[in-house]
Amino acid sequence: MAVTITQLKKMKDEGDKITWLTAYDYSFAHLVDSAGVDAILVGDSLGMVIQGHSTPVPVTVEDTCYHIECVVRGSSNSLIVGDMPFGSYQLSKEQAYANATKLMQAGAHVVKLEGGELQEETIQFLTQRGIAVCAHIGLTPQSVHALGGFKVQGRGDAAKLLFEDAKRVEAAGAFAVVLEAVPSSLASDITAALDIPTIGIGAGIDCDGQVLVLHDMLGIYPKKSPKFSKNYMQGADSVFAAVSNFVADVKAGEFPKPEHSFV
Ligand code: KIV
Repeated sequence: MAVTITQLKKMKDEGDKITWLTAYDYSFAHLVDSAGVDAILVGDSLGMVIQGHSTPVPVTVEDTCYHIECVVRGSSNSLIVGDMPFGSYQLSKEQAYANATKLMQAGAHVVKLEGGELQEETIQFLTQRGIAVCAHIGLTPQSVHALGGFKVQGRGDAAKLLFEDAKRVEAAGAFAVVLEAVPSSLASDITAALDIPTIGIGAGIDCDGQVLVLHDMLGIYPKKSPKFSKNYMQGADSVFAAVSNFVADVKAGEFPKPEHSFV
């Protein structure tokens, strides 16, 4: 059986770092799974690294289901997280349920959606109906145009609001929360305040786990990768070695370093 959300919670409780990576196809999913990554996120980053768009906004439910199906065929141990695309859950909790169902029927074990307080009701609605939900707060790439770019979130007065968002998604029933591009000290405070695991991407070393976009950490995305990523192909003699080194670094508390983090 694949890694479960109960195991992720146990890992947090026991101080074992959690590893997530994205994957979008059979072969990479097989490799990531074999390297012992705890969860594979079929992220809407596929809009950028697979489809070549400049944001994840164009990704559809159909696209996501297709990639989930490919990933499912390649993996046996990792938890599979299906990312709810832009426009597939914001309209109503019923819309969210209908689309989350499609992702689950494609093979996702759990779903992820962007938003804090605004998504409280939807998270509660889905979890009460048997769909485990990971929230994603901080830099939420689906809102990149509204945010005015891919920018660090939660600095200054916004820190309190982000902290409250984290508490609210936990109270609504989320099993984990992704913290993207937030100051390390804030991510550390949120991690200490929550019972559920925090999964950081550009959120510092104190998160319970780390996630990266596979194409960034393999250095194969032709455009600029974010500061919070690291090219694990440098010094590795295979893709498998690169992914294994990421897993080992996260487990040992060696990634991220301050240069991959924000103050
Ligand atoms: O879509 C994605 O890959 C994500 C990660 C950046 C967390 O949401």
